[in-house]
Amino acid sequence: MQPHEIVQRIMFDYDGLSREQIIELCGALPRKMVRWMGAHHPDNHTRKIFFELTNVEVGEGVVINPNLIVSDGYMSLFKIGKRAALGPNVTIICESAPNNSLLQRDEYVVRILTCAKPVIIGEDVWVGANVVILPGVTIGRGAIIGAGTVVNQDVPPNTVVAGVPARFIHKLDPLPEEL
Ligand SMILES: CC(C)(COP(=O)(O)OP(=O)(O)OC[C@H]1O[C@@H](n2cnc3c(N)ncnc32)[C@H](O)[C@@H]1OP(=O)(O)O)[C@@H](O)C(=O)NCCC(=O)NCCS
Repeated sequence: MQPHEIVQRIMFDYDGLSREQIIELCGALPRKMVRWMGAHHPDNHTRKIFFELTNVEVGEGVVINPNLIVSDGYMSLFKIGKRAALGPNVTIICESAPNNSLLQRDEYVVRILTCAKPVIIGEDVWVGANVVILPGVTIGRGAIIGAGTVVNQDVPPNTVVAGVPARFIHKLDPLPEEL
């Protein structure tokens, strides 16, 4: 099968394809294309597979809504804990650089702003729609991130934050231990 036929099969004719078959088919595709399918595949369960295949650690029971964009250079910098829910249009920035801009000659930009740091979303976290999470941030278990939030600092467990930048809103009761 040609790459375009594989993409067509996986994107539009996926009913009946097992996880193993999808993984096998993806083996013949460039990882950019596999990651792209992660953002845009219509099926919730299928979407996760493409992120796993491109070095994102995805826990059991995670739900990833459409248009998750991950800037990580495929470097195993992004981890999603079990049962976490990611709303639509979430952007995760692990790797950050100004590309070809002449800003890459600026000492401050190189030393401080250009970076590659992990982003970790803990178990049972709920990330709202249109959230942006910046490099180095860890979100604790059972936290909630409000729609449209820019998260520039770690979020403690069982805490609701929202806004730009993220601000404390509520403290939640601790979640039960894993069943
Ligand atoms: C963050 C959220 C959970 C808070 O809900 P809540 O506990 O009912 O909070 P409230 O509506 O009582 O708001 C509390 C304060 O936070 C502010 N706030 C709430 N959500 C906010 C948001 N997304 N961004 C900025 N501020 C927000 C409110 O304006 C209010 O501020 P005030 O006290 O100064 O008036 C909710 O607003 C939200 O964003 N949910 C995410 C929905 C979503 O994206 N789902 C994904 C689809 S699966």
